Amino acid sequence: MCGIVGYAGPKNVGDVLIRGLERLEYRGYDSAGVAIRSDDEIYVQKKKGRISDLFQGDLPTESLGIGHTRWATHGKPADKNAHPFLDCQENISIVHNGIIDNFNSIRDELTEKGHEFSSETDSEIIAHLIEENYDGDFLKSFKKTIRELEGSYAVVAIHKGSDELVVARNQSPLVIGIGSGENLVASDAPALLDYTKNIKYLQDGDIARITNQEVEIWDEDNTLVERETKRLNWDVEDAEKGGYEHFMLKEIFEQPKAIHDSLLGRLNNFEDVDFSKYDVDSVQFIACGTSAHAGYVGRYIFEKIAKVPCTVEVSSEYRYTSSSESSPFTIFFSQSGETLDTVAAAREANRRGCDTLAVTNVLDSSITREVDEVIYTQAGPEIGVAATKTFTTQVIILYLLAIELGLARGVLSKDEAENYKDELRTLPRKVERILDDKERIKKKTKRLAEAEDIFFVGRNINYPVALEGALKLKEIAYIHAAGYPAGELKHGPFALLTEETPVIALAVRDQTFEKMLGNIGEIAARDSPVFVVGDENKELKKLADERYFIPKVPPLFSPILMNVVLQLTAYYTAYRLDRDIDKPRNLAKSVTVE
Ligand code: F6R
Repeated sequence: MCGIVGYAGPKNVGDVLIRGLERLEYRGYDSAGVAIRSDDEIYVQKKKGRISDLFQGDLPTESLGIGHTRWATHGKPADKNAHPFLDCQENISIVHNGIIDNFNSIRDELTEKGHEFSSETDSEIIAHLIEENYDGDFLKSFKKTIRELEGSYAVVAIHKGSDELVVARNQSPLVIGIGSGENLVASDAPALLDYTKNIKYLQDGDIARITNQEVEIWDEDNTLVERETKRLNWDVEDAEKGGYEHFMLKEIFEQPKAIHDSLLGRLNNFEDVDFSKYDVDSVQFIACGTSAHAGYVGRYIFEKIAKVPCTVEVSSEYRYTSSSESSPFTIFFSQSGETLDTVAAAREANRRGCDTLAVTNVLDSSITREVDEVIYTQAGPEIGVAATKTFTTQVIILYLLAIELGLARGVLSKDEAENYKDELRTLPRKVERILDDKERIKKKTKRLAEAEDIFFVGRNINYPVALEGALKLKEIAYIHAAGYPAGELKHGPFALLTEETPVIALAVRDQTFEKMLGNIGEIAARDSPVFVVGDENKELKKLADERYFIPKVPPLFSPILMNVVLQLTAYYTAYRLDRDIDKPRNLAKSVTVE
C-alpha cells in the first residue's frame, strides 16, 4: 500500500532509488516518482504507470533523494497525484504512505494562507505544512508538522539546503538500513537488501534524521532513543525471481523449503509460545483475505488436535462486533504484519481482555507490538501480490501451535503428538511431488481459462481451501470464482450451473467423503464440468471430467497439498490469459487502509 524509499550516500542516487522502488512495486503500482537533491535544487520526475515505463532519461546521480510507488487512496491514479510532492517554493519534497485523516482542515487553513495545491491527495499538505512551519531549521519544522498530523503515515522529506532525510512513522511501516558511509530508509526491508542487511525498525511515533554518516531517532516524547540494529537473515536472491517468470511461481516452488524452515527447531523443542501460562478454553482466529482462510483451516486443526472450541472473524468485522463476556485466546494472522484492519483488531482484542498471539512473516512488523506473543513463519520475503508460501507456512504454524496447546491442556498424549509431528516432517517431500507435476496441472487449466464463472467446493477442513482456491483465481486470473461448502450448492447456487460452469471439487477420504461423492454426482448431473482434486478413488475417476490426485496424506494435513494444486491451477489459468500475475490490477500487497 504505497512504497517509499530514501537514500543518503555516495552511490548514484537515481539508480539506488529506482532499484528500491522496483523492489517495493508490489506495494502499489498506480504511479511512481523520485525527488533528488542535486546542486541545491530539487529535481522531480514522476508519472502515472509502472516503474518500468518511467525514468527513461538520466536522473541526477547525487547526493540524496526519495522515491515513491503508489496505490491510490485519495485521488485517482494520475500524473498530478503521483508522489513526491513539493511545497510552493520548491524547497521541500516529501513522500508519504498512509492516510492523513485531518488533511481537509489543514488544506483549508493552508489555502487561506495562500498555499496552492496541485493534486487531489491528502499527502501533498505535508510538504506545504513543513513550508509553513519552516523557520530555518528543517528538522524542527518537520517535527512540528508531524505533531499536527492525525492518521497513519510513513513520511520521508528532504530540503534543498540540507543533506538529511527526515522521516516519521505512525501505523505505516518504515525501516532504516544502516550502511557504511551510506544510510537508507524504506517501507520494507527487502528494498534495502542490495545495500545492507542491518536494519533499525522504527516504532509508532518515532521521528528520525538520517545522513550518510549518522542516524538519530526521537520517540513520541521527543526523547533521543536508540533503536536496536537487527541483522536480516534474508539474501538478495530471496528478493529476486531467480530464473522464474514470476515471483508467484518462484514462491509456490519455495514452499518445500518454507515448510522445512518453519518447522526447523520447533518440532523437537518448541519455545515460541508457552501455553501453560495461559488459561485457554476457547480460541478465536482473526485475519483478512488469504490469512483469514488460514484461520478457517486453523479452526479445524485446533478443534481436532487441541480439542478446543474455535471461532474465526475477519479483522474488519471483528472491530465492530459487540464485545462479548468471554475473552478467547486470540490468534492473528498477517503475512505483512501491517494490515491496518488486523493491527486495529489486535488493539481491540487487547481492550476486550483477550490474550493475544500474532503469526506473521515480517520481523518487528506493526502487529508484533500489539500482542502478547509472536511467532514468525519462516517463509522468506513474499513479493508476488498473491499470498502463497505464507499461507502454507501459517497453516504449518497452526499444526505446531495446536500440538503444543493440546499437550498443555492435557488432551493430547506425547505419542499422538509425535505421530502428528511425523506427518509434518513428510510434507515438504509431498509438496515437491506436486510441484514436479506442474506440467500436468498446467494442461488441465485450458478449459478453466475459457470460463466466466468457476465454483470451488469442499467439505470440512477443505472448505476453507475451496475459499482460498477461489480467491487466488479471482485475484490473478480475473475470473469470477466462488468457494462453497459442497453441501450448500443445492441451496441456491445450483441455479447457475451449466455446461459452461466448471466446478472444482475437493474430495479427501475423511468422514465427509461419501457425502462429497454424492455432491459431485449432483453437480455432474447438471452437465457442469467437474475437476476433482483429492485422494485417489475409482468413483471419483468415473465422476470427474478432469482429476488430480494428491500424494497420500491424512485428511487433517491435506489442506497443504490441496492448496498447492489450486495455487498452480490459478497460476497457469492466469498465465494462459496473459494476466499481470505478480501485480494484479487494483491490488497491493500490504493493505494499510481500512
Ligand atoms: C491474497 C492476499 C490477501 C492478503 C490480505 C491480508 O492473495 O494476499 O488477501 O492475505 O490482504 O494480508 P496480510 O496477511 O499481510 O495481513
